[in-house]
Amino acid sequence: MTDVACNVICIASWNADLVSRVARPMARGETLMAHSFDIQPGGKGSNAAVAAARQGATVGVIARIGDDDFGRMALALWAREGIDTEHAEVAANERSGVAQILVFDDGDNSIAVATGAGAGLGQVNVDKASEAIRACKVVITSNEVPQAATLAAFKIARDANAKTILNPAPAVALPDELIALCDVLTPNESEVRVLAGMSAQASMADASQAILDKGCRAVIVTLGSRGCALWHQGQSPQTLAGWSMQVIDTIGAGDTFTGALAAALARGETLVEAMTCANAAAALSVTGRGAIAAMPTLAQSQNLKKSTLKETA
Ligand code: RIB
Repeated sequence: MTDVACNVICIASWNADLVSRVARPMARGETLMAHSFDIQPGGKGSNAAVAAARQGATVGVIARIGDDDFGRMALALWAREGIDTEHAEVAANERSGVAQILVFDDGDNSIAVATGAGAGLGQVNVDKASEAIRACKVVITSNEVPQAATLAAFKIARDANAKTILNPAPAVALPDELIALCDVLTPNESEVRVLAGMSAQASMADASQAILDKGCRAVIVTLGSRGCALWHQGQSPQTLAGWSMQVIDTIGAGDTFTGALAAALARGETLVEAMTCANAAAALSVTGRGAIAAMPTLAQSQNLKKSTLKETA
């Protein structure tokens, strides 16, 4: 517990990532020998919280974890990263979330998540943390937590003028009420079409516009190594190029983007400035193993931005 208000609050999923590295995606029924196996911190919410903390935000999590070794791993991580855990509930006799991840030789991955205790996160947890939400500048979450928790938190945030960012992963259709409470949605290219209820052939622009029409204030589509694109209520679309990085794995790149975006907005940066910071942080995050190993500090992502400016000057 801290007595300083956090400027970013994350409605956080937590998973222990069980990561096997294999040559390529597997066929149904196939057994493949893995190159390696690691247990690493994960969960889209926890990853974004760590990213925001490394970018200099004061961060608190509203979370539910199991009373098990993986739950203790979460508490140790959050303590190391300076993340406030006053509103992290340890659920007796429940398991923590786990994600079974296959990372392929090209750095891409497949992930299966079992949310464990996180499935019980709800209105009660949010209500207990309502003062912290009211006092913060930005609330972030993902589709890995129950929608009821997100909705409850975003209603409080909107009422208190705190910004809301939803990373809509994994992709599911969202109720219009929730979309209208989002200041920023950060889907990837396939998620934006699912959110808009459109086919894979629909253009990103049409899908993003359909989401804006439902009352979301901005949609930033993350494009991996190609950067990101912003559609903003009442303004022209903007795109940012990506960086060419040595990719080790892409686990947590989208979460890093969301967390870094939140930290920059909490510092008072404009949405375009914040998107630039997030784009740099996400690029650096793919250069190490697992979700958080290569998540950069603010100084590291600023250095990347400077070095690129020099190259292009
Ligand atoms: O976005 C990456 C994350 O997705 C992993 O850390 C895994 O836990 C799943 O939640």
